[in-house]
Formats: sequence, structure tokens, C-alpha cells
Amino acid sequence: MQERLKELQAEALAKVEKASDLKELNEIRVAYLGKKGPITEVLKGMGKLSAEERPVMGALANEVRDSISSAIESKHKHLEEAAIQQKLASESIDVTLPGRPVKIGNHHPLTRIIEEIEDLFIGMGYAIAEGPEVEKDYYNFEALNLPKGHPARDMQDSFYITEEILLRTHTSPVQARTMEKHQGKGPVKIICPGKVYRRDNDDATHSHQFMQIEGLVVDENIRMSDLKGTLEVFAKKMFGEDREIRLRPSFFPFTEPSVEMDISCKICGGNGCSVCKGTGWIEILGAGMVHPNVLEMAGFDSKKYTGFAFGMGPERIAMLKYGIDDIRHFYTNDIRFLKQFSVTE
Ligand code: DAH
Repeated sequence: MQERLKELQAEALAKVEKASDLKELNEIRVAYLGKKGPITEVLKGMGKLSAEERPVMGALANEVRDSISSAIESKHKHLEEAAIQQKLASESIDVTLPGRPVKIGNHHPLTRIIEEIEDLFIGMGYAIAEGPEVEKDYYNFEALNLPKGHPARDMQDSFYITEEILLRTHTSPVQARTMEKHQGKGPVKIICPGKVYRRDNDDATHSHQFMQIEGLVVDENIRMSDLKGTLEVFAKKMFGEDREIRLRPSFFPFTEPSVEMDISCKICGGNGCSVCKGTGWIEILGAGMVHPNVLEMAGFDSKKYTGFAFGMGPERIAMLKYGIDDIRHFYTNDIRFLKQFSVTE
């Protein structure tokens, strides 16, 4: 019996020594020290021993059990410690590694141009106004001196929703809406950026949806020279101090007189090239003195008040400023195009 116990002890200690994880160690503990284990079996046979042998054997059995259980305990600690070390090693962070660059988005080139134009006019005391894209025929046309039947309101150009409601074809209706809100009292000094819609076939220079920025100033003694000075400041700030402007007579039903503004071509410096089609000038916007009918319809006394207005296309301005050759680039969101306007990379 003594030998059997010694054997069991050696066997158990060897297994404990070899155990490679906590699960295996627990299995060894159950196998050797459990109620159905061999040591318990041995102890059960003690009853058959003589009175002298019994305490000797009892002491030995206890010693064997204690030695196995303390071996298990220390191995347990050891394995636990090793598991923690392994976990720490696998989770360790190398703080000396270079960081990964974070990709930051940036403003769309059109947004940038619009914000630049807004800032420029805000700097001259203008407020920003807005109006609905789904507009009444009245504001889009009638209030702008475009009565029903006027050729400029040809169905071809407009997306009508009902007979009286359409997608606005320009931002000019915001002029009428803003003046109405002022209830005949000046000054009014606003710009209005927004989307507009036309029944056009999309190509390199046309889009069925695009942006416009409208400007309107109404006050006493507003003159054509105020318009010209304002547009000159705008053109030079936007395109460079060496740009010249010229006003050409034109026609818009809501302004009288009406003009179109050109700037001298940046590419050829005014000598004539393919961009300016040999003229040395590039058309930028339409403008004029607010037609008395428009003032009156919006509740302003046209004998007391005068005003000027202008309307421009930020796409066209961005195309000229950045040398973009196709308006569709603004809407297709090709990342290779957009990235060229990144301020962060
Ligand atoms: N609304 C015109 C258009 O879409 C542009 C325009 C011309 C606006 C002259 C104006 C203006 O305010 O005075 O073609």
C-alpha cells in the first residue's frame, strides 16, 4: 500500500509538471484527489490495516495528498501568470509606430466658390436670402415683368409641376419675395445662392440643374455706377486685380437698362485665345437696373426707390477660375476630380 501511494504521488507530480494549461491541471486534480480518485481508494482500504500500521499509513496518505495538491496549486499560479503575460504580449502597442493619417473630407469646389462669393458680398454689407426651389409661376415670371405668353417663359425652358407651380428657372424670384417682405421700405441688400432648374440637355456647358447667385440692392439714389463699381470689386477679388471688366448692353425683362458683364481673359490677357474665342473677353453674368414694374409689383415706390440686380452662375465662375472644362464634373462626384480641390492633402 505504501508503494502504491508513492507510485501515485510520483505519477501525479509528473503529470502536474507537464500540464500545459489550466484545464488539463484541473483534470489532474479531479483524477487524483477527487472522491473517486486512487488515493481515496487506498484510504478506504485502511480499515483492514493493523493498529500500528494505520497511523503511519494515514500520515503518508496525507503527505502524498498534500504534496500533490500543493504542486497543483503552485502550477496553477504559474499557468495563470503565464496566461496573463501572453495576453499582455499579444495586446501590446508599439507607441513608436508612426500614426495612420486620418482622411479628412473637404468642401466641394462649388461650395467653396459659393462661400467665397458669399464672404465677399457679406464683407460689403449684403445679407444672404433664400427662397423655395419649387416656386410659383407668379414669382418666377410674372413679378419679374414676364407676363404670361412672354417668349422667355417658353415651356421648353421650365419644369412645370402644375400650371401655376414650377421648379424655379433662376434665383431672380427671390428678388420679388425679398422686396415684398420689406413692404416698400429700403434699403434692401441681399445675395441669394441656390439651385435652379431648366429643361436643357446636359452637355459640357449645360445642366438641367445648376446653381445661381442673385444679387439685389434697392435704396434711394442707387445708380448704374453703383452696379458697375460693385461688379468691378467682385471681379477683381474673384479673378485677380489685373482683370478688367466691361458691360455690354443686353436685355432682361426685369431690368432696364440691362447689361452683361465680361471680364478680360485670364489665359491670353485680352489678346484673344481659344478660351475667349478670340475676343479677349469672357462673359460672366447678367445685370441691370431693377425695372420700375418689378419694384412696383413688389410694393416699392419706383419714383423714390431705384435698384440694381445681377445674376451669375457659380459653376461658370469655378470653371473659369480653376480651368474646369466640363460642368458635369461638379455633379458626378468623381473622387479624382474632387481631390484636386482638397485643402488638407
Ligand atoms: N435671371 C437671369 C438668368 O437666369 C440672370 C439675371 C440677369 C439676373 C440680370 C439678374 C439680372 O438679377 O439683373 O438668366
